Amino acid sequence: MAQINFGGVTEEVITSEEFSLQKAREVLADETVAVLGYGVQGPGQALNLRDNGINMVVGQRENSNSWDRAVADGFVPGQTLLPLEEAARKSSAIQFLLSDAGQVATWPKIKECLNPGDLLYFSHGFSIVYKDQTGIIPPDNVDVVLVAPKGSGRTVRTNFLDGSGINSSFAIHQDFTGRAKERTLALGIAIGSGYLFPTTFENEVYSDLTGERGILMGCLAGVMEAQYNLLRQHGHSPSEAFNETVEELTQSLIRLVAENGMDWMFSNCSTTAQRGALDWAPKFRDAVAPLFDDLYQRVLSGKETKRVLEANSAPDYREKLQKELDVIKNSEMWQTGAAVRSLRPERRQK
Ligand SMILES: NC(=O)c1ccc[n+]([C@@H]2O[C@H](COP(=O)([O-])OP(=O)(O)OC[C@H]3O[C@@H](n4cnc5c(N)ncnc54)[C@H](OP(=O)(O)O)[C@@H]3O)[C@@H](O)[C@H]2O)c1
Repeated sequence: MAQINFGGVTEEVITSEEFSLQKAREVLADETVAVLGYGVQGPGQALNLRDNGINMVVGQRENSNSWDRAVADGFVPGQTLLPLEEAARKSSAIQFLLSDAGQVATWPKIKECLNPGDLLYFSHGFSIVYKDQTGIIPPDNVDVVLVAPKGSGRTVRTNFLDGSGINSSFAIHQDFTGRAKERTLALGIAIGSGYLFPTTFENEVYSDLTGERGILMGCLAGVMEAQYNLLRQHGHSPSEAFNETVEELTQSLIRLVAENGMDWMFSNCSTTAQRGALDWAPKFRDAVAPLFDDLYQRVLSGKETKRVLEANSAPDYREKLQKELDVIKNSEMWQTGAAVRSLRPERRQK
């Protein structure tokens, strides 16, 4: 493990140089890995495992678009693509990558497929931490671990293909075999992690639920809409309001922040932007702090996960979701966004 100084706090990380792919292959030499679920994370992790030469199968319910996608990606029905239970039964390391609601629905059957010494792997702390809601309590005689890529399943794959890797956290909940850690690190490297940092199931799920509801998506979507609406109310055109709110962020500024950090951004904008942004940042921070507090409390208390399980288990979940997404898609703001994107030089029709 390397000791890294993160802003004055020393933490341990494991990089792909320290735990090489060759070592991962050796640790997993006698294992068959089942990737259960071919939604968003499933394909990224499964394809990377396969390309890294790990003995693996995909488990997916049949008669489904996800099954067809796995076939299109080269998995062979009856050989490397199997129904969920069959895949789980013939494997020693089971990566449970169904949607969190799907994990709850299938757990009673998947549990029956576990053999002593198997490893049960999650990419989210949800199912284990909120066991009172999910009912997912693994038997004592298996390893229970987590590798959570810090990005979409799509990025897990695209980063692998461009050679960069994704950062992932890892945790051990239960070590029956005494080998849980080396198995976890091996799987973490084999799915394409560039480095792995330790966490607990609790910390992973609390931070993840907060992040996606907060700055990564919920908060971001909300504040972008607030600024767009404000500019429109004051007579600015849709294209001006959208460019000043979203396009400049995604096409320019956030890329620079990704490369160099926020302090660099503040020192490399106009002095006019700099003074104003430095003055307003603390005001926004303080205005949203109570909301973040409320959010974290709701995560801790299980209210957020309860809502997720109720909403996502409803039979008409997909139809209701589509209606909700259509409202956003058809709003003036995001229709403007589509028009603005189509005007980017690389997309403009010649
Ligand atoms: N999305 C991400 O990038 C991301 C990032 C980090 C961690 N994670 C974690 O990774 C895990 C997988 O997430 P995901 O986003 O990849 O999930 P997802 O795309 O929502 O998963 C869909 C998969 O679950 C299956 N499924 C859902 N309900 C089912 C049911 N009742 N019975 C059988 N199969 C069912 C789907 O099959 P059908 O297609 O047949 O419905 C599909 O294979 C979760 O624990 C998530 O929190 C996800």
